[in-house]
Amino acid sequence: MLPFILDRLPNGCERYIEPFLGGGAVYLAIKDRFNECYISDLNPRLMNFYNACGQEVSVANAQPLVESTLRQVNLSLYNTICVYIEAYNKSQDKAKYYNVQRTVVNRNDYAWLEGCEVYFTPTNLIIKPDPERGFKGINVEDATSFYIVNHTCFNGLYRENKKGQFNVPFGKYKHLGELDKTEFEAYCKCFCSSNTTQVHIGCYGYDKSLEHVNDKTFVYLDPPYRPISNTASFTAYQKSGFNDDQQRELKEYCDEVNRRGGKFLLSNSYQEDGFFQELYKDYTIDVIEVMRTISAKGDSRGVTKEILVRNY
Ligand SMILES: C[S@@+](CC[C@H](N)C(=O)[O-])C[C@H]1O[C@@H](n2cnc3c(N)ncnc32)[C@H](O)[C@@H]1O
Repeated sequence: MLPFILDRLPNGCERYIEPFLGGGAVYLAIKDRFNECYISDLNPRLMNFYNACGQEVSVANAQPLVESTLRQVNLSLYNTICVYIEAYNKSQDKAKYYNVQRTVVNRNDYAWLEGCEVYFTPTNLIIKPDPERGFKGINVEDATSFYIVNHTCFNGLYRENKKGQFNVPFGKYKHLGELDKTEFEAYCKCFCSSNTTQVHIGCYGYDKSLEHVNDKTFVYLDPPYRPISNTASFTAYQKSGFNDDQQRELKEYCDEVNRRGGKFLLSNSYQEDGFFQELYKDYTIDVIEVMRTISAKGDSRGVTKEILVRNY
């Protein structure tokens, strides 16, 4: 999908917004083209992980300053992940190790993070909108458990049950590879502001990102896909799901971006019933063919049709 998106990037935008960030493949590929990036997702476990990455850079550069500002920064994310990888590899009962880590991922209370926007510079951390609202500190151990679970669960999937608990089963991996320090440091830098790009990391619903849209903004939207059949359940990333009414609300968000003079590009599944063709008939729709994993076993790939909608 990425090449199709790179082919269609608009010109003249200074601010980038990606409000359904997930794994952030597009953000990581294009962030350096913008002066400011606002990345966000509703998933607090994921955003805690990205916050821990950004903090890793801040801590490395400004230990004394950050220590006086935060309660819990004495752990290095890189070192902690390495310790957990070693523990996993040495574990005689890896399924049990996985289940313990998954319990950690599920037991945490991220209430303080939800609705928050965090902004790291290489020497400090700024939390918006309200740092008094019960800031508990970015949790490096939770971020590590999230990393481990993500790398050892079945097919690297992210899925929640109705109670919001991550419920993907163990992937039965015998061995986890070492984490390359240089690569990880480079990755962490993507979640910290630099001299050329400010990075704002939010944990909130996509609609809140509208407040950042102006006429120099490019918004890339990769919402949970509408299922292509009654049995497919691509929307089940999170307890809240994403039904047709929410797809329609998202179209209103796109209309508002358009009204404000911003540019948007949205990806979704191609629908035989013409749902998106009708919904986005006022915009440009490209139908593209991409390779996707198509079986539940995760070992079978095939060509599937998707759409890219844009207002430019
Ligand atoms: C299709 S995935 C995004 C995939 C991502 N582009 C990638 O490269 O991995 C959809 C993401 O939207 C998030 N999400 C679901 N509902 C949301 C909402 N109402 N507001 C913001 N994010 C939401 C999910 O947590 C998930 O990470």
